[in-house]
Amino acid sequence: MSINSEKDLEALRKIGRIVARCLQYMQSQLEPGITTRELDHLGGQFLSSHGAQSAPKLTYNFPGFTCISVNEEAAHGIPGAKILKAGDLVNIDVSAELDGYFADTGGSAIIPPRSKLHQQICAVAQRALDSAILEARAGAKLNRIGYAIETEAHRNGFTVIENIGSHGVGRALHEDPGFIPGYFDKKDKRVLKKNQVITIEPFISSGAREVVENGDGWTLVTDTGIFTAQYEHTIVITEGLPLIMTLPA
Ligand code: CO
Ligand code: CO
Repeated sequence: MSINSEKDLEALRKIGRIVARCLQYMQSQLEPGITTRELDHLGGQFLSSHGAQSAPKLTYNFPGFTCISVNEEAAHGIPGAKILKAGDLVNIDVSAELDGYFADTGGSAIIPPRSKLHQQICAVAQRALDSAILEARAGAKLNRIGYAIETEAHRNGFTVIENIGSHGVGRALHEDPGFIPGYFDKKDKRVLKKNQVITIEPFISSGAREVVENGDGWTLVTDTGIFTAQYEHTIVITEGLPLIMTLPA
């Protein structure tokens, strides 16, 4: 979507804050012994207590309120009977709708003890998000986002997952511009526009360049022993730094 009024901005900020707080709350509940279904239900309760609806459930009939992806799962993990344990790398992705506006956020976290590889991959994914946000301004080519993400990944010896990426958001969970790669595509001539609403979500991997669906209809995985971290914000493009909608405060 494109922000056309103060009302649009306030409504997007409102749902952005809810998903950000939901993510923060769910991360605070990560501990060995909790199942991903229990964690998801806490998230679902949080959203409904704020009047919000799970966007993947609403849009795609996803079998969960949030996506919870553990270890070699990179995205779209279905909450279920899996019991989280010490040392797990857990990505939680929260997107939701309120009053017709959609915001999308996500983040990876490690249940202690934290392995060096998990810590590095999380730190690089966070830096990739930060540096891509710095590139995202009105008039810039959309491929600057992928360039920033890929540069940060390669500088640290990691790879980018190429078949999932960032996207337009705001009045729907996924909208125009449809697919914003996490790698540099020099043929992509699209230009960012003022007031445009997009996500930025680098998927940084310890070796994989693509994910495959594991047969359950949803979960996107890499080979065993490969790990992926993702951090995601919903932002509004301006002539300067973008406005970040998915902050908890
Ligand atoms: Co997301
Ligand atoms: Co997204």
